[in-house]
Amino acid sequence: MSSPLAPGWLDELDLHVGPPDASMGTRALDPDRWFLVDDQWDAQRAEAARLLASERDEVLVSADDPAVGAVVAELDDVVRTWLGRSRGSVPPVVTDQRDPPRGLADTRLLVADDLCLLLPGEGGWRLAAGCVCFPSYWRPRDRIGGPLDGVHAVVPGYPGALAGRVDGFLGRLRPGQGVWRRNWLVHDVADLHLPTWVDDVDRPTPVPEGRWLRSERQTLVRLPTVEAVVFTIRTQQVPMAVLGSRPDVARGLAAAIRGWSPEQRAYKGAAIDDALLRWLSAQAG
Ligand code: HEM
Repeated sequence: MSSPLAPGWLDELDLHVGPPDASMGTRALDPDRWFLVDDQWDAQRAEAARLLASERDEVLVSADDPAVGAVVAELDDVVRTWLGRSRGSVPPVVTDQRDPPRGLADTRLLVADDLCLLLPGEGGWRLAAGCVCFPSYWRPRDRIGGPLDGVHAVVPGYPGALAGRVDGFLGRLRPGQGVWRRNWLVHDVADLHLPTWVDDVDRPTPVPEGRWLRSERQTLVRLPTVEAVVFTIRTQQVPMAVLGSRPDVARGLAAAIRGWSPEQRAYKGAAIDDALLRWLSAQAG
């Protein structure tokens, strides 16, 4: 039951009702679907290139760690191999990989996904480098070098047991093995680069049907030889109004939101308010 306006990924959203607020939600990754080459592929790569030129220090970060160089080089290699297999052609390597952040930026521009590199450390897996052009209310430079429980400090339900499960899971991933998961959020604007929390900017929240349902398709893949995991983030979004043709999804979103804890409701921000809930219920029929 999907139309061009209501994309298939709506059926992949986690619409569970009730606790827990946060869960692993990972599924085995089909290697052919590591990256999704869709109608936004070129436009998002172009937008990433624009942001890398105008906001480089915001979107490109690396810890001062000598291990990062080899990891960046291997990531570039596996991304090019994947593109060669699935797309048939790959641009030649132009980067001097002795400059790891630059190498990571060049690899980022080959795909539509943001790329983060995770390395194991004493306090667990940590964010060692990232090229994140389309953050959803976070600043990569605030989180660089930190362990994943610190990266998720403000996420309801993450610190504690889930943090331990994620760390253990990353340690058990075999070379080349991968998983994927999806989140979903509601944004008041369609900008892809949104480092600033919606509640902190001075703009009126649009009517519900003028908001955006945004989802990140995330993958976690263990690189083949270096002890590192790449975390990819593909941002997809549709105007909320498309749910007019998907009453089942509108109903599911409303039920999921009503099942959230007060902490989760506060965390998810001002674009999920009572007006949205009323609108979703009206679409659900
Ligand atoms: C299986 C692994 C992971 C799980 C279960 C997980 C879970 C979550 C959850 C539940 C949230 C709240 C928003 C949402 O609903 O998605 C979140 C946000 C976030 N995650 Fe993860 N995550 C994982 C891996 C990662 C990794 C590897 C990174 C590395 C950069 C990361 C970075 C973030 C950031 C920056 C946020 C936003 C936090 C904020 O609001 O300040 N996550 N994650």
